[in-house]
Amino acid sequence: MQGVQVEIVKKFVVFEGGDGSGTSTQLELLRGKSRVWTTYEPTDGPIGRIIRDALRGETALRPETMARLFAADRTEHLFAKNGVIERCNRGETVVSDRYVLSSLVYQGILCGDLPFNLNKDFPLPELLFFFDIDSQTAVRRMENRPVREIYEYLEFQELVRERYKTLTPRWQQQGVRVVVIDASKPIEAVAREVAREIDSL
Ligand code: TYD
Repeated sequence: MQGVQVEIVKKFVVFEGGDGSGTSTQLELLRGKSRVWTTYEPTDGPIGRIIRDALRGETALRPETMARLFAADRTEHLFAKNGVIERCNRGETVVSDRYVLSSLVYQGILCGDLPFNLNKDFPLPELLFFFDIDSQTAVRRMENRPVREIYEYLEFQELVRERYKTLTPRWQQQGVRVVVIDASKPIEAVAREVAREIDSL
């Protein structure tokens, strides 16, 4: 992200966007598609579980600690056996709900440059979808969720949206294909757009 050329992983696809932008719904719709492996961050691994407790507010962790945990969880996600890299190398298409940009956006708001330093060596995806949605609509969508997570409030989500808009063009400059999705559209319309892009890889 800081002028150094980073490797791009072929067939690696990432969904990014604010909370309530519908990335998890779209990931669910892709599950089971042949030769596509769907995955997400934070993962279900041991570090991901610590992160989820903190997201629910059950444990209070410093933003810097969260940034380090997200980066550690990501290392396992990518490089563990049967992880993202191994799968892409054997020709699978891997679609991940969230990746590095989530850390640069969310932890970037809370702890400045640290997430950039922690994440500078991770390879980039071939294709990135940015699910863009008006923050008020997104927060309204989340009102019915049983648990409200620590980042899920309007003022923070407005900052999140702005940072995504600033940072996604930088990834494009580094060779990532960036597709901006109007995430206020109906689920089926978004799904068609996503499928078309993934099929063209
Ligand atoms: P999310 O995809 O919204 O999961 P769920 O559907 O279970 O709520 O992700 C959880 C939250 O974690 C979301 O608010 C974004 C945040 N997050 C970060 O702050 N940094 C990161 O690096 C990642 C991967 C996620």
